[in-house]
Amino acid sequence: MNKFNLSTNEKKINLTIGMLKDDDGIRLRELSTVRKAELEVINQNLNKEYTPMAGTPDFLSSIRSLIFPEEQFPSSNTNILVIQTITGGGSLRSGSELIRKLISNKIYVSNQTFSPYKSIFRDLEVISYPYFNSENKSLDITKLLSFLEKIEDKSVVNFQVSSHNPTGLDPSKEEWEKIAEICMKKNILVFFDLAYLGYGNGSIEEDLFPIHYFQRKNIEMLISYSSGKSFMNYCDDIGALLVSTRERSSLEKIKAHLFVINRGLFSFSSIYGSRIISRILLDEKLKGEWLNELQETWKNLRAKRQDILNALIKENVHQVDFLKNQKGIYMFFDLNNAQVDYLGDKYSIFVVPGGRISISSLAADKIEYFAKAMKDTLNQN
Ligand SMILES: Cc1ncc(COP(=O)(O)O)c(C=O)c1O
Repeated sequence: MNKFNLSTNEKKINLTIGMLKDDDGIRLRELSTVRKAELEVINQNLNKEYTPMAGTPDFLSSIRSLIFPEEQFPSSNTNILVIQTITGGGSLRSGSELIRKLISNKIYVSNQTFSPYKSIFRDLEVISYPYFNSENKSLDITKLLSFLEKIEDKSVVNFQVSSHNPTGLDPSKEEWEKIAEICMKKNILVFFDLAYLGYGNGSIEEDLFPIHYFQRKNIEMLISYSSGKSFMNYCDDIGALLVSTRERSSLEKIKAHLFVINRGLFSFSSIYGSRIISRILLDEKLKGEWLNELQETWKNLRAKRQDILNALIKENVHQVDFLKNQKGIYMFFDLNNAQVDYLGDKYSIFVVPGGRISISSLAADKIEYFAKAMKDTLNQN
């Protein structure tokens, strides 16, 4: 970001930030359903009372049924607790403290990963498990499964659901089933990170497959939900931490711990953002419109990804096959630090270390320039 701001090159492009942009790659994309709900909430003239410690009841029930639809997972007979937090990062942080207090002093995360995990899980030892294979640029499921087989029973393992950041590679359904089998056998507690709901497969139901599958298999889980990307409400981002246990009785104890943890972390979550989200999710019509807008964004990203791929192919860049398997709002080129610097210094194209670009920040009329620069950069070893 700093380098981008300092650059005087008129061709400069900032591809670092994970916010959805309009076609010009600059203006923030907005969801009209969010604007509509916001106006309705403002017009209700509600007061600004303290949010209850668990969160606002409407928000909690709407997030529960977003992630665990009532028809499939009736609230009457499952063991799921939902707590409102601030942002996905806040949910991960609360979960980290809960793990430290009750379960373990370490957590396993994938080997290419969301870099803030290190500081978010700072009270835990953060250990990498094999995920991205840099040789063939693919998800190394064999190594991942055999690693899981070897870790201690009752370990805590973090998995991202619905478009892995930064690699864009998710396990297939069959691979999730194999992961679940080991988690069941070894009593592994899974900490799912759901920050990109809607961006994996163009269907919320498909994106939630691993969570639903693990729930049906009775595997104990923590789930961190971030609304930032799926509602594009970045600065009003309300998160949720969901806990699914086998013993309903343990939920009360967990809830009490989370109250203390969250009071120490952020006191109260904002009521404002939560009212907007629950306004959308509790109204069938608005919810349907929101789902359509989200799917439209997913389609745009898919089309832009294809345009970038075509431009790379036109430039005779050979090493692009792996990009076709990636999902989500990013493309991941697996660049080394020297290549990232080269791209910035020579072309004023700024990307996250590792070579992750935010697709929607690349405007259509800059794709050709990007593809030429990337070709040159990939040839620098
Ligand atoms: C994988 C992953 N997890 C969690 C988060 C955190 O989400 P939030 O911005 O809501 O804190 C992000 C945000 O970019 C992310 O990419």
